[in-house]
This record gives sequence, structure tokens and C-alpha cells, in this order.
Amino acid sequence: MKIVSLSENKNIEKRIAITPDIAKKYIDLGFQVSLSENYGSHLGIDDNLYNELGVKIIKNEKEILNDADLFIQLGLPSDETLSFLKEGQSVIGVLNPYQNKDKLNELLKKKINLFSLELLPRITRAQSMDVLSSQANLAGYKAVIDSFSFFEKAVPMMMTAAGTIPAAKVLVVGAGVAGLQAIATAKRMGAIVFATDVRMASKEQVESLGGKFLTVDGAENLETKGGYAKEATAEFKKKQEDLLASTLKKIDIVICTALIPGKKAPIIITKNMISGMQAGSVIYDLAAVQGGNTALTEVDKIIDKNGVKIMGERNILNRLPVSASNLYAKNIINFVSNLYDKKSKKISINLEDEIIEKTLIK
Ligand code: NAI
Repeated sequence: MKIVSLSENKNIEKRIAITPDIAKKYIDLGFQVSLSENYGSHLGIDDNLYNELGVKIIKNEKEILNDADLFIQLGLPSDETLSFLKEGQSVIGVLNPYQNKDKLNELLKKKINLFSLELLPRITRAQSMDVLSSQANLAGYKAVIDSFSFFEKAVPMMMTAAGTIPAAKVLVVGAGVAGLQAIATAKRMGAIVFATDVRMASKEQVESLGGKFLTVDGAENLETKGGYAKEATAEFKKKQEDLLASTLKKIDIVICTALIPGKKAPIIITKNMISGMQAGSVIYDLAAVQGGNTALTEVDKIIDKNGVKIMGERNILNRLPVSASNLYAKNIINFVSNLYDKKSKKISINLEDEIIEKTLIK
């Protein structure tokens, strides 16, 4: 079995899918590993380090892909790279099937197996492969760190002889994986934390981290069987708007994380709500790429509205790419191990395995 990965376009993706530790594990499992030149050099990982572990470093992308069995990436590669793929090869990554439908259909016509890990079922057995969780967890942490660095006041309460500084108030919108990590991080730094979600199960989780859950009165639990959020009704949105409009006047920092799989992110923070916030407040919108949770979010820009800063990046994980790559690479090797049949020494696409069935694009 030959497993390969190519350098990503580093302007948009700094994470890597095969770290040296994981390359060694693949080799120990009996795989051959090939990577493109300077694969991890931007993270301080020299080609020589991979070479010493037994990885082949090859210049030409077409040559690398030529006899590959498994091609592992972060996102969907460029059209040119995809054109090199051949029947029977398998691609594993976060392929964004909702947005890349046409391209993926073309690859399916060429009989290429496509595994997209954002489709992984949220079951216990899949936890070690769950790239959405591993990456969202880091994103939630980093959003807090970054927004605090833009906040021009201290975050924890400080009582000194010169006077008292009150603790900053943080609101986390959406208490999934990223939101819960944001709550934990903000709490650790001494903030008073509030959170809201459409899934009632999240109330207990928020409270167990020391956050105060803001419940939308009389709202039904908007949760699917898979544990994801359902789109809110107009009635829910109105009630949520009233609740947040009054709360936001007292909030210093907002971390937005609300998403609905396969849909545009819900706009939860309106222009009016932002106008009612205190100057100096900061909003970090982790949903920016999916359209944003605020009416004013613009990807990779810092918007200033009457002194309130609203920010959201294309890929916040690019600013902790080492940690993000370490977890991503581990998630992928766990997925590959489940796909690999030790007897035949080939991958086995067993559609009775829920993990394989759900992640395989059909
Ligand atoms: P996500 O990234 O799809 O959404 C983030 C959060 O936004 C969710 O909590 C969602 O309910 C919330 N949200 C959506 N619309 C909203 C609105 N209008 N207002 C307020 N909040 C809104 O979700 P994520 O983080 O991927 O988690 C999804 C579920 O999967 C959760 O139930 C989580 O606990 C569960 N999970 C289970 C795992 C397992 O292995 N058992 C592993 C990881 C997550």
C-alpha cells in the first residue's frame, strides 16, 4: 500500500496531513509513504527528517500520485492535481461535499474512492478519527486567545490598592465542540462566561464548565438525531433576538460558533445588536467562512462598527498549524487503520461499517 500526500497551497492551508511521527507509524504498519518536496518545511520540518524515517520525497506531483493507493490531504486539491488521479485510488480529507459537489461527481465518474471526514458519524468508535472535533476544539481556544488580545481591557477581575478591574464578560454563541472549548478557555482566563445554543443538551455541558446558559424561553429542543442543530424557526429566532439584544449590551467579547451542517451559518447577531454594544467590545466569528453569525462579518477583515470590532478568518487553524496538524494526522491514521485490511494488505470498503459507509461519497 502506498500512501501519499502533497504540499498544500500554503497561502490558504498551513496544516499537513502526515507529520513525521505519523509517517513513522504508517511505515511501521507496512505502508510506503511518499511526500512532495518541502512538505513540512514551513513548520520547521525538514525533508531530511522524513527521509531518515524512510519516507520518499519526490519533486513531481504526477509521479507521486502515479502509483499511490491512498492520497491524504486537508482540503480538496487543485483541479490540476485532481486530473492526475486514476481509477481505484482513494482520496481522504475534508472535501467539503456540499460546496464541491460538481468536482467530486467528476472524480466519482473516474471511479475514485472519496472519503470526506466531515461526514464521520459522531459515534464513540469514531471519536479518535473526528477531525471536526479535533480542529474545532483548537479553533475555539484560539478564537478566545485572539479576541482577548484585541480587547483593550484586562480579562480577569483584579483587586489592587490602585483600584478594582471588573472581570470581562464573554458570550459564546453555539456550545458545540468549539464553543465548549471557548467557554473553558475564557473561564480559565478569569472571564465571566455566558453561552447559548438551540440544543438543550448543551445547557448541562455549559454549566459543567462554569458558564451561565441563556435559555430561549419556551423554545423547543432543536436537535437532530445525529446531535446536530436544526434550523431555528422564525418564532425561535425572534425570541433569541430579544434575549441576545438585552444581554449583548453588557457583554465585552462574543465568540460565535453556530453552524448547521450543509447550510449557511445562521445570522444571530444583527446590526442593531452590534450598535447596542459598548465601544471596545470584540466579536470573533468562527462561522465567518460559512457566511458568519453576525450581519457584519467579513472573512479575513476586522470591521469596526462604532468601536466594536468584528473579526473572522478563513482558517484560524493556520495560526496554530503544528498542533492542528498533529491532531489531524492522528485522526487520519486512525481512519486509515479502520479502512485497511491486514490480511489482504489493501483497503477494504466495507459498507457495513458505519464509519466507512457514512464518509464514502456516493
Ligand atoms: P456544529 O459545529 O455543527 O455547530 C456548533 C454549535 O452551534 C452546535 O452546538 C449547534 O447546536 C449550535 N447552533 C446552531 N444553530 C444555532 C443557533 N441558531 N443559535 C445557537 N446555537 C446554534 O456542532 P459541533 O460542534 O460539531 O457539535 C455537534 C454535536 O456533535 C454536538 O451535539 C456535540 O456534542 C456532538 N459531538 C459528539 C461527539 C461524539 O463522538 N459523540 C464528538 C463531537 C461532537
